[in-house]
Amino acid sequence: MTARVRAAEIVGDVDARVFGGFVEHLGRHIYDGIHEPGHPTADAEGFRTDVIALVQELGVTTIRYPGGNFVSGYRWEDGIGPREDRPRRLDLAWRSTETNQVGLHEFSSWLEKVGSDLMLAVNLGTRDVAEALDLLEYANVAADTAWTRVRAANGRETPFDVRMWCLGNEMDGPWQLGHRNAEDYGKLASRAAKAMRMLDPTIELVACGSSARDMPTFGAWERDVLRHTFDDVDFISCHAYYQERNGQAQEFLVSAVDTDLFVREVVAAADEVAHERGSDKRIMLSFDEWNVWYQFADDGTKAGDLVPDGWPVAPRLLEDQYNVMDAVVVGDLLITLLQHADRVRSASLAQLVNVIAPIMTEPGGPAWRQTTFYPFSLTSRLGRGTARRVEIDGAPRVQSARFGDVSAVNAVATTDDAGTSVFVVNRSVSDAAELVIDLRELDAASLAVVESWMITDADYRVANTLADPDRVRPQTLEVIRQGDELRVSLPAVSWAVVRLG
Ligand code: AHR
Repeated sequence: MTARVRAAEIVGDVDARVFGGFVEHLGRHIYDGIHEPGHPTADAEGFRTDVIALVQELGVTTIRYPGGNFVSGYRWEDGIGPREDRPRRLDLAWRSTETNQVGLHEFSSWLEKVGSDLMLAVNLGTRDVAEALDLLEYANVAADTAWTRVRAANGRETPFDVRMWCLGNEMDGPWQLGHRNAEDYGKLASRAAKAMRMLDPTIELVACGSSARDMPTFGAWERDVLRHTFDDVDFISCHAYYQERNGQAQEFLVSAVDTDLFVREVVAAADEVAHERGSDKRIMLSFDEWNVWYQFADDGTKAGDLVPDGWPVAPRLLEDQYNVMDAVVVGDLLITLLQHADRVRSASLAQLVNVIAPIMTEPGGPAWRQTTFYPFSLTSRLGRGTARRVEIDGAPRVQSARFGDVSAVNAVATTDDAGTSVFVVNRSVSDAAELVIDLRELDAASLAVVESWMITDADYRVANTLADPDRVRPQTLEVIRQGDELRVSLPAVSWAVVRLG
């Protein structure tokens, strides 16, 4: 089987924001996750420095905050001012108590420490345009106003200067506070966007797309929302979560086929609206929630850890443990996002710490990397520059109930000033793949393999745990060079990257 890097088939420049993350006030994400004042590694603000180091290593660029479902009931003003005066509130989305000890100031300070940019979501669930404007004024305005005086009194003279703003969250979902139909949401998002741009014309705006490709309104929702907001927004969002169900590993391993179709269908819907309007504007995609998430039991009901009793503070919610197969799927999802670099200009791995997360922590104890940490960190570090198509010839096929006959191997390449990276995945649950990477179309003579990594294990269900945090790590991938060709052997259920420089 051959994977030919097509040097001339440029997909697009990889936007750094594709390697974004997502932090929601949910479970132990903020409290007892990134913020644990009593922890031995905590800094003066109470942030765990061991977690900061791991987030830096992960390589997340832009971080979406503060939700998620949480944002649709959030009053941002609760999170500013003296901490002792901040109200405790019920978070209806996750049936928890929010103490508001971390808000915009603290989170921005944490972002400065980790070196990531803020992507802020406004509440269009229980609130309206006026509150979105208040937050934008507080965050981005330099002029002397009532809100900027409050900001200064709270210790921040200069604006936070937030570039990307989400107009609500998953407003198509019946579970969402303030859920609306597409027309009502489209009108509200348009009003909010127009007003926000009057205040700060330089911001980029994301309208809510569908919360999953299998939503009954998928497609129609995107078209209807964009018919109202086309001139007002830059992005439409996509959300997708995948999981193995009923022990069907092969079916789960081809999840990225769904992501590929999702992107194509949303692009088609957005371009249909552009065509109707005779516009050459292209709406970009913000894939601002994606990951593996074991949210459904085999019988299709929601997994039990979603609705705690008694309104606890920072309960253990959505603390999925990821195995090697999950990491391979995450690697394939990243390959797929890069294959659409021309239209997917922003994406957020959901989420970051403890909650369906690549990083786990124990209160008072260690922090460690889940298996899914590695495909993300390697792709973020090596997958910059320009995305190029990789043509696969003679790949074995796997059978999927949802997608039919599917290539077992998927790949993409990126090229930057320092070299080329080839990302490849073997999605077969049973068969190894012998692969020839054909570099003829690159200036291969001057390129040497500088690093090559693989994630796999004879038992693809093994995971990193508190007791054994380094059970799974990237292994060096053996690469045999023959002229313009590289020969690699990819075990069943494996993800790999070869870096040439
Ligand atoms: O990431 C967990 C939840 O998934 C988010 O709060 C919501 O937006 C989505 O349904």
